[in-house]
Amino acid sequence: MPLITFIDHNGNAWEAEAQSGQSLMRAAIDNGIDGILAECGGACSCATCHCYIDAPWFDQLPPASDMEKVMLDGVLEPQDNSRLSCQVDVTEAMARMTVHLPASQY
Ligand code: FES
Repeated sequence: MPLITFIDHNGNAWEAEAQSGQSLMRAAIDNGIDGILAECGGACSCATCHCYIDAPWFDQLPPASDMEKVMLDGVLEPQDNSRLSCQVDVTEAMARMTVHLPASQY
C-alpha cells in the first residue's frame, strides 16, 4: 500500500494511502485530498485531475496516451511534469512519491 504525498500550491502536504492498481486520482479522492476535482470521474475528458509528478517518479511512468496529451494541452498551468491523475495507475514503486497540485483546482 504505497504512501503518496500530495502538496498544494501553498506548500501544505497530506499523505495518502493508495492501493496498487487504482488510479492516482482515485487514491486522492478516497483520502479526501483537495485539489483533485475529477469532474468526469476518470474518463479523461475534464482535466480537473491535473497534477505535477515529481522526479524521479515522473520519468518512470508509462507515457501519456494521445488522449491525455490532448487534454493536458488545455490545462491552465501546464508544466513539463504535468499528468492527469486519473490516467496514472498506482504501483508499489510509487511508495513515497510526491505529487504537487495546481492552484487552479482550488
Ligand atoms: Fe476527468 Fe481525469 S478525472 S480527466
